Amino acid sequence: MPHQWYNVVSDLPFELPRAIHPGTKKPLVPDDLRALFPMELIKQEISDEQWIDIPDEVLKIYHLWRPTPLKRARRLEQMLKTTCRIYYKDESVSPSGSHKANTAIPQAYYNKKAGITRLTTETGAGQWGCALSFACDVFGLTCRVYMVKVSFQQKPFRKTIMRLFGSEVVASPSNLTAAGRRILKDDPHCQGSLGIAISEAVEDAAKRTDTSYALGSVLNHVLLHQTIIGLEARKQIALAGEKPDYLVACVGGGSNFGGFTLPFIKDKLKNDKLHIVAVEPTACPSLTKGVYTYDYGDTAAMAPIVKMFTLGHNFVPPGIHAGGLRYHGCSPLVSALCAKKLVSAVGCQQLDVFKAAHLFCRAEGIVPAPESAHAIKATIDIARREKNKCLIFNLSGHGFLDLGSYEKYLDGELKNYCYPKNEIKKALKDLPQI
Ligand SMILES: Cc1ncc(COP(=O)(O)O)c(C=O)c1O
Repeated sequence: MPHQWYNVVSDLPFELPRAIHPGTKKPLVPDDLRALFPMELIKQEISDEQWIDIPDEVLKIYHLWRPTPLKRARRLEQMLKTTCRIYYKDESVSPSGSHKANTAIPQAYYNKKAGITRLTTETGAGQWGCALSFACDVFGLTCRVYMVKVSFQQKPFRKTIMRLFGSEVVASPSNLTAAGRRILKDDPHCQGSLGIAISEAVEDAAKRTDTSYALGSVLNHVLLHQTIIGLEARKQIALAGEKPDYLVACVGGGSNFGGFTLPFIKDKLKNDKLHIVAVEPTACPSLTKGVYTYDYGDTAAMAPIVKMFTLGHNFVPPGIHAGGLRYHGCSPLVSALCAKKLVSAVGCQQLDVFKAAHLFCRAEGIVPAPESAHAIKATIDIARREKNKCLIFNLSGHGFLDLGSYEKYLDGELKNYCYPKNEIKKALKDLPQI
């Protein structure tokens, strides 16, 4: 298991655009982030050092489930009658069931070290909320999770897990914050979105000195922690005597995609034949239909303004069952790689994604998270059109707590969503002027 995280910024042949302060509209300085994050995480956010040591306390917890297996999906290959070799990196084996624990543990650790006693966060499908709740319990912090309302209703058992670890779980938008109350006043039935839940968690943390905010995706330090996935996968695929032709992962805020693929970017810079594919829902298509520009990270315009592919911070995506992919933007790092054409992006419809998940489940015996099933769908498409290639996808999580969605799929109640063109057009009118 690697003992350092990899910072791709040191190897990029271009500079990343600076983040902007949401109030002053001036370039962000580290002090601006002090109200939300501990200094160690702020340093990682802006670091250009190539390798960053993983603290021993974090390694000790990582060892509960890491290294995670890289498996060959032989039965899936047979079912598809493909000549391609399909591997998957199995992040579903973490205690909370997804890759999110890879960053939850160090975030809780650095906050604890800085004397913080309470964390707030948002969660979409609940995977991040579960991971952070577990991490807070490990390091003795209390935690409040703002859970997107549609997922709060669709996935009630993730709420139970968070509560088992001692967290308080609130359906977002809520009446506990000014941002939530504003949104509920305009739309009392609002289903919520990651952008709204982020606003509530940020507002809550900014008000209290004992509290920091923790984000489960998007930011550089989150992707940094997730590089443990790609670092392990790179070693494992070499042990198997293979070189990948395709790397595939789903994209919400970009953390499992970034964590899995960033350690291969140096390979991509040398070998244009390596394809790195980001997969998103057609209902929330930031990379495939969004604009690469400056936008707020949250709906209430309190989070930093960053350059990213965005659908507009006011865009509330349809209530697809891959709740973790309902984010209006994308990590600035992943967005920059996409803008430079080092990675490509495809969109998938909900029903096709569940069909692919079903096939994978019958072939390999694992029920995938609906988010991860986007990567499975795109991998199956590649395996059907290519010959003799080596494909690896990231299985970012299992779907044992997404069974309500699978019930609906089996009962024929799931539907596809059209590309929400008009809503996106409307939301893009509210972009900040930078
Ligand atoms: C299992 C799983 N995969 C993927 C994602 C998408 O997030 P990210 O793009 O940060 O990996 C989520 C988010 O909740 C998730 O729970």
